[in-house]
Amino acid sequence: MKGLILSGGHGTRLRPLTYSQQKQLIPVANKPILFYAIEDVLEAGVREIGIIVGPNKEQVMETVKSANWESKIEFIYQDEPKGLAHAILVAEEFLDEDFVMYLGDNILREGIVEHAKEFEKNNYDASIMLTDVENPEQFGVAELNSNGTIKRLVEKPREPPSNLALVGIYFFKPIILEACKNIKPSWRNELEITDTIQWLIDNGYEVGWTKVNGWWKDTGKTEDILEANRLILDDIQTKNEGTAENSRIIGRVIIKKGVEIKDSIIKGPAVIGKDCMIRNSYIGPYMSIGNECVIEDTEIEDSIVMEKSEIMGGGRIVESLIGKEVKIRRKVELPNGRKLIVGDNSEIVG
Ligand code: G1P
Repeated sequence: MKGLILSGGHGTRLRPLTYSQQKQLIPVANKPILFYAIEDVLEAGVREIGIIVGPNKEQVMETVKSANWESKIEFIYQDEPKGLAHAILVAEEFLDEDFVMYLGDNILREGIVEHAKEFEKNNYDASIMLTDVENPEQFGVAELNSNGTIKRLVEKPREPPSNLALVGIYFFKPIILEACKNIKPSWRNELEITDTIQWLIDNGYEVGWTKVNGWWKDTGKTEDILEANRLILDDIQTKNEGTAENSRIIGRVIIKKGVEIKDSIIKGPAVIGKDCMIRNSYIGPYMSIGNECVIEDTEIEDSIVMEKSEIMGGGRIVESLIGKEVKIRRKVELPNGRKLIVGDNSEIVG
């Protein structure tokens, strides 16, 4: 089986961060979201991966190549985000055998090994993954027949026929290419993946499904990224390679080499990347701090701070997403308890 991972699109719901960063590269627990997808695909035994890249292709290629993967990875350029089925068509030459398509902004706790096995064992033409959600109108939704087979799939229905959402991970035989060529763009002018799977059903092909048991997140919005960060941090194990002076470290924390902590409290779960400097601060639960950050005279929790950022006298900061190389400096008193979404290279001086 091959792997097709999607890492294009404009990520409009994550601006301003996505003006400078491709959304799938935003770090969750200090690892680009895209890497979780690559790891899941590799774990399922795939050794040939195609990554669809779009507007920030150089950034994605550089980041992926900076890590060592046990697989051949090639990059396939999609000039415009015209839908998931369009991405499949762009990759037509690569897709000459069964494949798993994984949306690079999805994170799944349990991985895909069991789901891949079901697809192969049953020799389905396509297999989808479903999970119960509270807001089905924001996803592709499946309606089942009384015998449990799929009756129909609808994309972001105003009146959802069920609360079973399609997770952004799909298993296909190459027949899906035929389906992609036979559907029309939707109201949002995209070639929808749900329509292609519906085409398979309507034309007598076998479409199976499996249920996701652990958590799943589509990280399209800030709240989702922070939630994914919490879920991943919930599973970390302590590994402290830094140094601490006159400080308390409580709970599960990963502290990388070169980190210096002074006169501070760190309360896990939290990860602190290498060469960070934390002084006179409180780092609360669910914090991810990227490499080479400086945090001084600040109380911060439940947030992501990306590499090379400096927060000095930041007051109390919660539920925030702070880009790379940001400088926050406060000289005057401001109201406490701020939520910030700060793009890369910004400077906030109070
Ligand atoms: C896409 C699919 C949708 C699926 C979702 C999962 O939506 O079209 O069916 O439920 O991914 O992440 P999009 O993220 O493009 O709005």
